[in-house]
Amino acid sequence: MSCLYKTLRPLLFQIDPERAHELAIMGLRWGTLPRLKPPEDPVLQTRVCGMNFPHPIGLAAGFDKQARAIKGVLGLGFGFVELGTIVPKPQTGNPKPRLFRIPESDAIINRFGFNSDGQEAVLPRVAAYFNGRPHCKAPVGINISKNKDSAESADDYIQGVTAFAPYADYLAVNVSSPNTPGLRALQNRGALKEILSAILAARATASRQPPIFLKIAPDQTDENLQDIADLCLALRIDGIIVGNTTVSRLSTLPPALAKETGGLSGRPLFDLSTRVLADMYRLTKGKIPLIGCGGVFTGADAYAKIRAGASLVQIYTAMIYEGPYVAIRIAQDLAALLKRDGFASVAEAIGK
Ligand SMILES: Cc1cc2nc3c(=O)[nH]c(=O)nc-3n(C[C@H](O)[C@H](O)[C@H](O)COP(=O)(O)O)c2cc1C
Repeated sequence: MSCLYKTLRPLLFQIDPERAHELAIMGLRWGTLPRLKPPEDPVLQTRVCGMNFPHPIGLAAGFDKQARAIKGVLGLGFGFVELGTIVPKPQTGNPKPRLFRIPESDAIINRFGFNSDGQEAVLPRVAAYFNGRPHCKAPVGINISKNKDSAESADDYIQGVTAFAPYADYLAVNVSSPNTPGLRALQNRGALKEILSAILAARATASRQPPIFLKIAPDQTDENLQDIADLCLALRIDGIIVGNTTVSRLSTLPPALAKETGGLSGRPLFDLSTRVLADMYRLTKGKIPLIGCGGVFTGADAYAKIRAGASLVQIYTAMIYEGPYVAIRIAQDLAALLKRDGFASVAEAIGK
């Protein structure tokens, strides 16, 4: 943790978590933090689905949900950034409070429920960024999902693809947030086939065809995981993000907070999400790029995700506990670990 952030953290943690998040977005939007370049080291540079990544550590969805601070967030040195989740119509999400820090466990529980400005409001921000983007920037993906009250889920995803395919470096299809009733049931074989087929058909008719990454939950039965792997292979899905927050609770969490409903993220999620990642790597036979997400705080954590099968890694909760520039430290430490073990690139270490 940077010394300055270590000093400031107790003060920041006095502020209500959602308010602190809003302040962070505002600060990044107005450029109050120095903008740093991602670390440049040939061992970290990697290419996945036709995209060039300066390093493999990205920001996971949920931090810049409304695409308000794209340049500021990229200025924290991430190798890539995922915006959203964005849903077609504006919706306010669940009642507050809906975000809980668990500092004893370096964890967060959230039940935002897709508070989203909606596609119409977010699209011009996204378009303005991509239209003015200098060449060779870190990739920016867009995470899409459905409105809570939508009767026809596939239609919502089609709307998301149609709106954002012309811009996004990749699209992430979120069927795994625990805070929208019924959403995770879309991971079941029949429903998932319908949704993914509709998405692929919509992409085929769009003006650009960005890669599609499916974001799944870490809470899966073996059978479900096999179904998802088979379907993604059959439909040639470009990547799988493993994964979202968990609805499970470890006994080590403080009981008063563990009882809050919502998705748990941060350190307690690391083992579960890395196990599911390794299973997915085995089930997809290494044929689909995987994005490892869940509980990554250090270079060693990121390295473990890569060796379990990840081509790329995402973080969110670590930024809350370790500070805004944590991705740079993780990437530098990862570079040292790759070199220590004789790997010339991230790609060489995947699944090893
Ligand atoms: C406050 C918060 C909000 C989130 N919102 C979203 C979201 O809108 N869409 C999504 O796909 N994942 C969302 N996530 C899940 C993260 O993208 C990530 O999958 C999860 O937090 C695990 O990574 P971590 O342990 O590094 O935080 C959210 C996570 C947190 C902590």
